[in-house]
Amino acid sequence: MKKSRKIAISTVNDEQIVEAWFDQNSKQSFRQSLLKWFRVHRREMPWRESRDPYRVWVSEIMLQQTQVATVIDYFRRFIRQFPTVQRLATADEQSVLRQWEGLGYYRRARQLHAAAKMIVAEFEGTFPATVDELLRLPGVGRYTAGAIASIAFDESAPILEGNTVRLFARLMGLTEDVRVSKTQKILWRFSERLVPAKGAGEFNQALMELGSLVCRDRDPNCRACPVARSCVALSLGTQREIPVASPKFEYESIREAAVVLRRGKNVLMRLCQPSERWAGLWDFPRYPFPHGDPVSNLTRLIKKDSGLDLELDEERLSLRHAVTRFRIELKCYGGRVRSGRLKRNSAFQWVSLHDIDELPLSATGRKIARSISAFF
Ligand code: ADE
Repeated sequence: MKKSRKIAISTVNDEQIVEAWFDQNSKQSFRQSLLKWFRVHRREMPWRESRDPYRVWVSEIMLQQTQVATVIDYFRRFIRQFPTVQRLATADEQSVLRQWEGLGYYRRARQLHAAAKMIVAEFEGTFPATVDELLRLPGVGRYTAGAIASIAFDESAPILEGNTVRLFARLMGLTEDVRVSKTQKILWRFSERLVPAKGAGEFNQALMELGSLVCRDRDPNCRACPVARSCVALSLGTQREIPVASPKFEYESIREAAVVLRRGKNVLMRLCQPSERWAGLWDFPRYPFPHGDPVSNLTRLIKKDSGLDLELDEERLSLRHAVTRFRIELKCYGGRVRSGRLKRNSAFQWVSLHDIDELPLSATGRKIARSISAFF
């Protein structure tokens, strides 16, 4: 460990920054310190109980959007219902979306399903085992391919996700925006140089675990860090300012209105169409919040789309929900059908209250369903 030259890293240019770190730190001792720490602090997780690539894949896709603690239950339920890639491939999309409900980013669930079909059809049911093959699957990018290839097949493949971005940026003292492609290249290069020839799966998981438990976003616990002596940010006291990241997006506020329309024990539901935000999921009829009198305007809109004449009540429920970049305020109205028949081939359908449990719903749709008694 040649500690004295560490400050110099902050003065080198982007291209040299990775090499400078490796010049100044021993890869071997970094790996040993990390793995020793991991053997003590490794958390039990259901997908770590085996190296089944199918399980690793499902967990990695879920972990891309949600914290470990939340993923655990989703993962268990998903694997119970679809224990193998063959079972997932033959499942209907609605049941896959139902298992995914609440995790958000439903496109990922649809791609998972499409990829399972591809594995069965094009790889004869044998899980692709290399980064190059894995990259052919829908929804599998460089990170997921590297995670599966290393964890399940021990390919010496690099990874880069939220935890490792933060960890590597601090180790190198990177003050560039980690979202821009130039910085991403530096981070991938760092990961490529660091990953060992053997034991890459354990090593990559140790990196993520360190990022998650110690090199935390808001309060890095540098005193507990097994590789603190290799950290440029710590030596400069900049660990809290790194990683630098431009805001992902501006939040967009949306006001919408939903209608719970009942007929006996049924309610009117609508299947979201392929071009829509929640394609493949079901929802209560929903519209941008109308200008003017909401009750008469919603009555007119539903008549136009479904063919039904309604009698709508005043607002019964108001929900707020944040999803990706949207901040949704949803006003919900109850009502009854007075006359008319559902137009044929519309996306609308009468669904019994009992069957709603089985349908994949948008998150706000599920919230309404849970409060359905307010409308009856
Ligand atoms: N985050 C993403 N993948 C992970 C994994 N395999 N272990 C821990 N955290 C993770």
